Amino acid sequence: MTIDPVKQADLRVALGERSYDIAIGPGLLSRPDAYAGAIHGRRVLIVTNDTVGPLYQQTVADALAAAHDVDVLALPDGEAHKTLGTLNLIFDRLLEGNYGRDACIVALGGGVIGDIAGFAAASYQRGIDFVQLPTTLLAQVDSSVGGKTGVNHALGKNMIGAFHQPTRVLIDVDVLETLPPREFAAGMAEVIKYGLIRDSDFFDWLEANMEAINAREPALLIEIIRRSCANKAEVVVADERETGQRALLNLGHTFGHALEAELGYGTWLHGEAVAAGMCMAADTARRIGWLDGAQVERIERVIAAAHLPTAPPAELESTRIRALMARDKKVKAGELRLVLMHDIGAAVVTGAHGEALDATLNHYFGH
Ligand SMILES: NC(=O)c1ccc[n+]([C@@H]2O[C@H](COP(=O)([O-])OP(=O)(O)OC[C@H]3O[C@@H](n4cnc5c(N)ncnc54)[C@H](O)[C@@H]3O)[C@@H](O)[C@H]2O)c1
Ligand SMILES: [Zn+2]
Repeated sequence: MTIDPVKQADLRVALGERSYDIAIGPGLLSRPDAYAGAIHGRRVLIVTNDTVGPLYQQTVADALAAAHDVDVLALPDGEAHKTLGTLNLIFDRLLEGNYGRDACIVALGGGVIGDIAGFAAASYQRGIDFVQLPTTLLAQVDSSVGGKTGVNHALGKNMIGAFHQPTRVLIDVDVLETLPPREFAAGMAEVIKYGLIRDSDFFDWLEANMEAINAREPALLIEIIRRSCANKAEVVVADERETGQRALLNLGHTFGHALEAELGYGTWLHGEAVAAGMCMAADTARRIGWLDGAQVERIERVIAAAHLPTAPPAELESTRIRALMARDKKVKAGELRLVLMHDIGAAVVTGAHGEALDATLNHYFGH
């Protein structure tokens, strides 16, 4: 790939023959050279949605037009459409168009589009190439990297899916200009998460720079995305299929998923629930004696500075949240496992801190 090094960050996810580059910079979507080498066949299907498509699909189609035959499929927008039914719309288009195994799917959108288009690529004719063009901050720092793809089932989120790595991730920071503020803040929850689980220097840097980040200064956006993707890539390379340390990426998520489920999906954005969940995890770690009060305050201050909630809604009931947490995927052999911090920048997966957890739930909620 020949992209000018100015304001441009490149990372490589080293997974043997499934290795791929992550390019981060301004204006990437419009650059034909940014895609070079990632798309092997002639035919490309851009999968997007009816919000993002009108904003960016033409830019992408124009960049690809010289080297490829390009078609576009715009799906309805929203998590509610991350279903097998919507997935089938992609298969319909591919089959009706006689796409072969050398076709490539280009996923243009947030995490919903990336997950569903990625799963289509994982399963169409047993697997075709796909390129991720993430357009939300959350997708740029989290969901587009690591190869988890899938759709929801009525009985559970992300329950049908596959691991399928993209051939490239192109992160164009310019697209964040149109991202609504609430969605931007939600992405920041995952950014802060990397600092908390494994990168205390990054946490310090976020603490010092939150104002400029909130103003979406491009150089800072590139830095937070580069550092987040580098952290995620390191974890994924060490544990692609989440048998061990990849679970650390779930800091705040066991609490957060319970909040999302109890409030009704969509009431709080995922990142908002994770932000409150990370504060709850910090509270539990303090009760165990791992974090001190000053560290917990620091964590809450950074999360608040990113315009995210530092506590769940108090009207929820602890018994219901406890029950929902027990249903979480991270329950192993009947024991609830949590990701908690020993220190800022040092998280562990741990079980059997039931008393501290109960105290946390009683602190935030009525019974
Ligand atoms: N695969 C993984 O590893 C992984 C990790 C985390 C989350 N996820 C999944 O990601 C999904 C959430 O992703 P999300 O937060 O990106 O939500 P999303 O894809 O629903 O996007 C949020 C909203 O922003 C709009 N949007 C996207 N880009 C825009 C832009 N540049 N300008 C204006 N509007 C834009 C979308 O159309 C949508 O309305 C969930 O389904 C979750 O399960 C997957
Ligand atoms: Zn998350």
